[in-house]
Amino acid sequence: MRKKKIEIIYTEYSDIKELPDKQQNLIYAARKAVKKAYAPYSKFKVGAALLMDDDSVITGSNQENASSPVGSCAERTALYWANANFPDKKVLAIAITSIDNEGEKAEHLSPCGLCRQTLMETQQRFSSPIKVFIDNRNYILEIPDIESLLPLSFSNTSL
Ligand code: THU
Repeated sequence: MRKKKIEIIYTEYSDIKELPDKQQNLIYAARKAVKKAYAPYSKFKVGAALLMDDDSVITGSNQENASSPVGSCAERTALYWANANFPDKKVLAIAITSIDNEGEKAEHLSPCGLCRQTLMETQQRFSSPIKVFIDNRNYILEIPDIESLLPLSFSNTSL
């Protein structure tokens, strides 16, 4: 028997201005996209912005449904749209942000398991790490790649 340890290294910023312009703009794009969310049931709006390898930015927001499992998170809305319309463009980074019931950003936003799996598929599809920026109420997190969010994942190498 051998115990093993998985460590993740991520960065916490207390101010958006600590980030380079391109990454700041990606977070601003997510902050704009969150306003377009359709979240009448949870009242929790999420916006996502993808930085593509040609510097374009693609956004998405959560789209809920009266039949709740049918809805889509902001991350998957953006990723599927990007992959469907620009199948040859790499996704370099994703920024996500939220507006809760009280009109504030969530204290700790985090992609759900389905979105992590979808991000992993996109990362593998383009063999290029996707950085994740999480825009929380009091700080921004930068996570270097999707393995850090989904260690020991099931993927195409398992098939
Ligand atoms: N949601 C997202 O869109 N992204 C996340 O990272 C977390 C959760 C959505 C799903 C649902 O519409 C609402 O937030 C409440 O769970």
